[in-house]
Amino acid sequence: MATPVTVVILAAGLGTRMKSRRAKVLHRAGGKPLVEHVVSTALRLAPAERIFVVVGHQAEEVRRSVSTPGIGFIEQTEQKGTGHAVMVGRDRLAPLGGYLMVLYGDCPLLRAETLERLIDAETSGRAAATLLTAEMADPTGYGRVIRDGRGLVAEIVEQKAASPAQLAIREANMGIYCFRADLFWQHADRLRTNNPAGEYYLTDMAAILTGAGHAVEALRIDDAREALGINTRIELAEVDALLRGRKLRELMLAGVTIEKPETVSIDADVSIGMDTVVEPFAQILGHTTIGENCRIGACSVVRNCKLGEAVEIAPFTLVEDSRLDRGVHAGPFARLRMNNHVEEGARIGNFVELKKTHMGTGAKANHLAYLGDSSIGARSNIGAGTITCNYDGARKHVTTIGEGAFVGSNSTLVAPIEIGEGSYIAAGSVITKPVPRDSLAVGRAHQVVKEGWAKKRRERNAK
Ligand code: UD1
Ligand code: CA
Repeated sequence: MATPVTVVILAAGLGTRMKSRRAKVLHRAGGKPLVEHVVSTALRLAPAERIFVVVGHQAEEVRRSVSTPGIGFIEQTEQKGTGHAVMVGRDRLAPLGGYLMVLYGDCPLLRAETLERLIDAETSGRAAATLLTAEMADPTGYGRVIRDGRGLVAEIVEQKAASPAQLAIREANMGIYCFRADLFWQHADRLRTNNPAGEYYLTDMAAILTGAGHAVEALRIDDAREALGINTRIELAEVDALLRGRKLRELMLAGVTIEKPETVSIDADVSIGMDTVVEPFAQILGHTTIGENCRIGACSVVRNCKLGEAVEIAPFTLVEDSRLDRGVHAGPFARLRMNNHVEEGARIGNFVELKKTHMGTGAKANHLAYLGDSSIGARSNIGAGTITCNYDGARKHVTTIGEGAFVGSNSTLVAPIEIGEGSYIAAGSVITKPVPRDSLAVGRAHQVVKEGWAKKRRERNAK
């Protein structure tokens, strides 16, 4: 690109119509905060050093939700309107020259390709500014675009200030502009607050530039949905559905089978390999990467995980912040909840909970167990009902089980504890002392058998 573009993203408003204590741009759609979507789109148009986010309401949280380093922040302590939001950045923005693109942080559906077309239209023509518009079936709430006899933009009239005739215009301002930076800054201080909201409207720049003898062009897009601005929770839900639909189509075109896609939620930053099958009502969230040939069972939730190839998550299983290597099987009804690493071919069955646990290759815990802060050697078998007692009421302790060990059903392993390689734990044991390798540990009361006792008791009671 010959002339550089600076992108300013407005994200300082509270968003009164959301009826929320949280700043609007922090609300999530498609699995991430609204402002993050706009920032990732902007990053495809300009380097981070030329991207600025205007923050105000919950400025700290908004800053934190933008994870890319190098992006600039401009503080707008008082929200006096969209025009004011750009003006407060003057000292940092004006010296950058080139073109100034303004985006609103509440429009997460915008695609970089569309913005590129806007930049092309502006940089190849002679207009002082080009803005994005669309013909909307119901433009209520949007600024209306008033064209002059030549088809140029004469002005933008906000909903609150529009006459009935202007309200009938269906061409709406999408809130996306590309200005020639020199002309923008030359005229920006002519913005006034003489409107029903008493705000500095960025949209007034159209009439100001026109009045100064410059041309303002409009680039009309076919699909207004791309520029849907979120003002209420109803629009938030609509945009969330559109973003998720977009993501599912992308994945299906890339070779992922999604059964009953209308029931499945997959976040924007998830990647899934070919021939993986996602069953109905599954949720795949956060920064999750899934390999090829996996199966994600019905009603499972997988969040921030890394799954290798051919991993099978059976229905109703929750997996969070964990890594599962090739061929691992988990569920149904299992819960893996924090920093687990399960190595190749290991199996985790129903009603098994794992926390901060490492399971070696081919290890098994097939039913009803709690394994916390533990390391389980390759090919070990953890019997049904095994509990690692990792918490003494004050601190957490570690359980280490060697390779090829066999832990009998209903064993209680009181941590810190070490169970040696190849050893056996008898079913029902309470293990409090280390078990050396290749040994048998029995930690339970001895069984007493009194032959004939029950029969005698029945006879006694019958008398
Ligand atoms: C705006 C446009 C309208 C357009 C619509 C498209 C104006 C005056 N109107 O209206 O023509 O059709 O977007 O979606 O621009 N913000 C700040 N600081 C402020 C005020 C707002 O940073 O002082 C931010 C908000 O956080 C938000 C964005 O600017 O992300 C847009 O503000 P919003 O109040 O939603 O504008 P609309 O009323 O939707
Ligand atoms: Ca808006």
